[in-house]
Amino acid sequence: MSETVIDQVALEFREVMARVCTPVAVITAFDDQRPHGTTVSAFTSLSMGPPMVLVSLDRGSDLLAIIRRTGRFGVNVLAHDQADVAMRFARKGADKFDGIVWSESSALPRLDGTSGWLACTTESLVDGGDHVVALGNIAATGVAPVAPLTYHDRVFGTHRAFEVAS
Ligand SMILES: Cc1cc2nc3c(=O)[nH]c(=O)nc-3n(C[C@H](O)[C@H](O)[C@H](O)COP(=O)(O)O)c2cc1C
Repeated sequence: MSETVIDQVALEFREVMARVCTPVAVITAFDDQRPHGTTVSAFTSLSMGPPMVLVSLDRGSDLLAIIRRTGRFGVNVLAHDQADVAMRFARKGADKFDGIVWSESSALPRLDGTSGWLACTTESLVDGGDHVVALGNIAATGVAPVAPLTYHDRVFGTHRAFEVAS
């Protein structure tokens, strides 16, 4: 394949993926005593029996390095009013939790005000191109009746059901 064709595929791949409506979660772990977190849209359920999720993390992610060491991670499914939290955890640094309300749950950092919570132990880490897919077994769960945050066409939003004609 010529370089022009490869560039075109890469460009259109991004455009196709921009059309996919995704969830938004902050994946958390403890770096010794310090909580760390990273915003992801690439997570989904993997298995129901046993219950498992998968999360795709960039090879250069600091959170990935922590998960490699600790073997566990939390999935904080963000609520519709937490776009600011998503942006806070989408940058680099050891201070991302400054000013964030959180608590320890199942030996993992858990954010307040989320739509859902999953505490996971790492089953395996699978290489995938420039990312690594973390497969997690669910150890504990939490759920709140709050609409989730979504990401679509490079902007945040939430989900609305079609109106049902009466
Ligand atoms: C909406 C949104 C979705 C993102 N999804 C992912 C993702 O699925 N995987 C990933 O590795 N990074 C994703 N990122 C980028 C990371 O949040 C960002 O690179 C972060 O700085 C990584 O931090 P860390 O090095 O502390 O882990 C996303 C960012 C945004 C704003």
